[in-house]
Formats: sequence, structure tokens, C-alpha cells
Amino acid sequence: MSATRTQVAIVGAGPAGLMLGHLLHLRGIDSVILENRSRDYVIERVRAGVLEQGTVDLMTATGLGERLRREGMRHDGIYIAFNGRRHHVDMAALTGGRAITIYGQNEVVKDLIDARVGTSRPLIFGVDQVMPSGFTGGRPSVSFQKDGDGFELSCDFIAGCDGFHGVCRTAIPPSQLQVYERDYPFGWLGILAHAAPSSNELVYSNHPRGFALFSMRSLQVTRLYLQCGPDEDVNDWSDDRIWSELQARLHTDDGWRPNEGAIIQKGVTGMRSFVAEPMRYGRLFLAGDAAHIVPPTGAKGLNLAMADVYRLAEAIAEPSTSRREDALNAYSDRGLRRTWRAQRFSWWMTSMLHRSDSGNAFDHRRQLAELDYLVSSRAAMTSLAENYVGVPFD
Ligand code: FAD
Ligand code: PHB
Repeated sequence: MSATRTQVAIVGAGPAGLMLGHLLHLRGIDSVILENRSRDYVIERVRAGVLEQGTVDLMTATGLGERLRREGMRHDGIYIAFNGRRHHVDMAALTGGRAITIYGQNEVVKDLIDARVGTSRPLIFGVDQVMPSGFTGGRPSVSFQKDGDGFELSCDFIAGCDGFHGVCRTAIPPSQLQVYERDYPFGWLGILAHAAPSSNELVYSNHPRGFALFSMRSLQVTRLYLQCGPDEDVNDWSDDRIWSELQARLHTDDGWRPNEGAIIQKGVTGMRSFVAEPMRYGRLFLAGDAAHIVPPTGAKGLNLAMADVYRLAEAIAEPSTSRREDALNAYSDRGLRRTWRAQRFSWWMTSMLHRSDSGNAFDHRRQLAELDYLVSSRAAMTSLAENYVGVPFD
């Protein structure tokens, strides 16, 4: 077993782990990032697309803004559709100019990997049997295997950025974590299509056949989602069936409908709300999906991960200058406050827009009344807008 040392051992090279490594590098703090998948897999994984203003500001402030500025699509508003009509929510006007930017998570990951490679600090793909230990005493370390050889990485801090199915959260004794969870009785079937977006902003649609979402990745590529069963087999969905369901749920009485084109990727995702408290155990800190999951309807998961590691990098940088650990001690409470705010918003968007098989006619009429109130009240639209664009990182 070879022994090595770093200041911060980061498990996971998703947006959280890579951004943490980048922020620490800018503060002169050494880290090793360990990822069990290959570089190509991590770059090609299709996921989020909506960056909050705070995420865009963070990328820009840390030197990652160039391609984002060129290729990202700034959106000042979104549409909410129901009863055959699209209603515009002008988020920028309601929030003093804040907006979202459409830029694929895989593009964010690509930019972060390029930045990391440019620093020559370690980013190791394809590792096995990653195991954090020693984080309640003074000797935290992470053991792992690479190409059959064993390594022991000792460190000052371990950052668990390894997503919902990672090993870091499960290394904490269950008696030390309080878990809050909610499963939803549906999933999302998502596709990428070679088709020019027919709307310049996203469309969230509540339809009697189920929820649908129109989004995009570029001026040539549309991203679309359909509410489906939680364990639906994507092979049961032919391209024709997908398009006819999308058209049925998204078209509006003014003649608007999504453009069709070749489907280049499709997949089904389950939906859940999950929070593990606290986000810290000894010298092990959880960030991003390792600590919390939100249903994607609020577009918050990636942005929460970015807010976590921004706070964590500040906190890790603090002790070396002040020898106090106030920020490390506050990391979890401050993160949970933001997390629960995003949980409430994501749950609200999900329950307002999806069709529930267990719901009765009363529930459906109540949903429509909620949507009607939303699009006719400046106060209600402001509440949606300020949560959707996101509160500034703190
Ligand atoms: P991850 O991206 O999951 O990264 C964790 C990394 O750790 C992975 O690379 C994984 O391979 C690695 N790993 C796991 N286990 C180990 C191990 N044992 N050892 C080493 N490495 C390990 N969020 C938004 O903000 N906006 C959106 O519009 C949005 N849309 C979404 C749409 C869909 C369909 C889905 C599925 C998610 C969406 N999200 C959205 C959520 C967002 O994608 C996640 O919240 C985000 O990926 C979290 O980043 P992370 O770095 O915490 O975790
Ligand atoms: C996306 O473009 O992938 C996307 C947009 C909005 C969401 C979720 C995902 O709420």
C-alpha cells in the first residue's frame, strides 16, 4: 500500500468535487480528487441545464466564465402553461435583474476538468474501493485502489462530494445522522433532440396527461421531459410515442408546439426529496447530492452543490489564517438552511405541476386554482421568481 498526503481529499468529480478543488486551488490549498468513473463518462453524463445567477457569478469570478459567456443562454423569464395557455413570468423584472443561464452540467464539468488539468493537481479517474476513515480522530484518510494497487491518502479534511449513491455519507454511523426523505410516485423521461428550440424560454406545463417540460441546450438542441412512472423502462418509449405525448402535453391554443427532430439521448430518472443532517461528522464534510437531493422541477440540485462547496472552501481556508474554526462549525447549519429553502420550493413546484394518480378531482381543481393565482398575482410570481433565480451564495 503506497502512502501519500494532501490537505483535502475530495471524493467525487461531479460539479461539487471539481468546483471545490478549483476553489481550494485558488486559495493555494492542496487537494486530491478521486473519481470512480472514467473521464469520458463524467463529461458525457447528461443532467442539469439551469444555472442560477449565483452559480454563473461564481464561475465568472473564478476564471471559468469565458465559454459560459459565449455559449450559455441567459433567460430572463419562464413560461407556466395550463388549460391550453402559456403565461410568462418575467423573473428579471421581478427580482431586480437576476436571471438564469442555460448551460449543460456536462459543459460545467468539462470547464472544471480543463481548469484542474491546467493546475497539474491530482484528479484521478477510475479508482475503486474508496473508503474514508479516521475522520473523528486527528488522522483522517481515504484508502483506494487504482489499477489493482492500494493507496492510503492522509489529509486534514475529507470532502464527500460523491453524490447520492456514494460511500462518504454511508461511512457515518447511522445513529449520527437524521435523514428526512420523500419519494414521489412518478419519474421523468428526458430526451435531447436535434431540433431548434421553438420557444426562447423554458415552458413548464401542467396537463391532465401529466407534467411536461420544454428546455434546451443550444440553438440547435432541445431538451424535453415527460412525467412517467418511477420505474418506467425507457425501451417502452419509441420515438413516435415520445413525440406524440410531448405534443399532447405541451402544445398551447396559440399554436405553439415544440419542434421535432432526431432524438440523440433518452433516459428515465426517479424523483425524490432527501436531506441528511448534519452535513458534517468530525473532519468529514458532505456537499451536494451526497447530503441532499431535490426533485428536478425547481432546477436546484446543481446550484445547491455549488453553494455548498463555495461555503466549504471558505471554511477550510479560514483556520490557517485565524486558527479558529467558526466557519467550519457553521458549515452544516448554514447549508441546511439553504437546502430546506430549496426543498420547500422544489416540492412546491413538483406538487403544483405533476399529476398524481392518487389525487382526486378536488386536488386537480386545487392545482389549477393555485396556478391561476400564481399567474395573476405579482406577489405570487415574485415568490416563484426569487426562488427560481436563487438567493445569493452566502
Ligand atoms: P454528482 O454529480 O452525482 O457527482 C458525484 C460524483 O461522485 C460522480 O461523478 C460519481 O461518479 C462519483 N462517485 C460516486 N461514488 C463514488 C465513489 N465511491 N468513489 C469515487 N467517486 C464516486 N440540478 C439543477 O441545479 N438544475 C437542473 O436543471 C437539474 N436538472 C436535473 C435533471 C435531471 C434529469 C437530473 C437527474 C438531475 C438534475 N439536477 C438539476 C440535479 C443535478 O444534476 C445534481 O444535483 C448534481 O449532479 C449534483 O452534483 P454533485 O457533484 O453533488 O453530485
Ligand atoms: C434541463 O434543462 O435539463 C432542466 C431545466 C429545468 C428543470 C430541470 C432540468 O427544472
